[in-house]
Amino acid sequence: MNKIPQKVKVSAPGKIILSGEHAVVYGKPAILSAINRRLTIEICGKKNNGDFDLGKLSGFSMDFIVNELTKKIDGISDVKVRSNIPVGSGMGSSAAFAVALVASVGKFVNNEWDTEKINRLAYLFEKKHHGNPSGGDNTVCTFGKFLWYRKELEEYKIFNPISVLKKTPPLFVIDTGRPMESTKEMVQIVGNRYKNSHTKTDLVFERIEEITKYFLKFLLTGKGDIAKLIRANQRLLKELGVVSNSTQDIVKRIEAIGGSAKVSGAGGKKGASGILLVYHDDPEKLFAFADKSGLIIHKINLGEEGARIEKTN
Ligand code: PMV
Repeated sequence: MNKIPQKVKVSAPGKIILSGEHAVVYGKPAILSAINRRLTIEICGKKNNGDFDLGKLSGFSMDFIVNELTKKIDGISDVKVRSNIPVGSGMGSSAAFAVALVASVGKFVNNEWDTEKINRLAYLFEKKHHGNPSGGDNTVCTFGKFLWYRKELEEYKIFNPISVLKKTPPLFVIDTGRPMESTKEMVQIVGNRYKNSHTKTDLVFERIEEITKYFLKFLLTGKGDIAKLIRANQRLLKELGVVSNSTQDIVKRIEAIGGSAKVSGAGGKKGASGILLVYHDDPEKLFAFADKSGLIIHKINLGEEGARIEKTN
């Protein structure tokens, strides 16, 4: 029998969506990438020979999960969560939490590491807490890298790592702030638009799909105009109603200095819209702009590793 560890530390990366958010909920493809920010869960306790059904984790409430683990799973005495992924801004903090939770409990209790299973159960957790997710976030937080992702059916989701050209230009993230709406609410807003204006909304999704394919080509071959793709994508997200006025104002100002920016993730309508994915062929201009405007800008490393076991000592 496998020896069950007494201290387990697991981490999962945050993510950004390069292209295809919202449309991905309706079966269109998306390109996602794991980023160099991580959430870590460390579980300590006594050796436990019991089995625990990891499927039960999705039923735990998000706010109290750390306490619930120590109460409901024999042997666990302490759980620590650390993260440098901003919460609720489109960088995958909730998916990274779901992935790291399932993975760490599975490793602690059953000494198992099965990424397919981790991904499947993290998806259940996301569904329980966020309504109708595409499953893209948990998949990239589990497997890492750059992923091409498409949900064909609830029961059948396709994803493939993308071998991205080394000379892909640097991309940046500007934080517009935490949206007032949750991801679930933003997905519902688009859902209502889809219900009320089916043909028009379908057309927007089709145009987003087209951009996502051009984006894929750009990543694979370097051919294409990334600035144009980001701008066109932003216009379509605006049309879907997931960009607030204040965010659109920031986007316009970035475009005015020769850059391009799009909402990455669910967006936000009333206040802020989470993070913007930003490109400029002269990044110094972006830093000067962010500085002048009091906005936080980060260079992000893409294609990072997925969920992994961290050394405990
Ligand atoms: O903002 P996030 O990290 O919650 O990303 C949501 C992405 C959506 O496409 C809007 C929803 C989904 O489930 O894919």
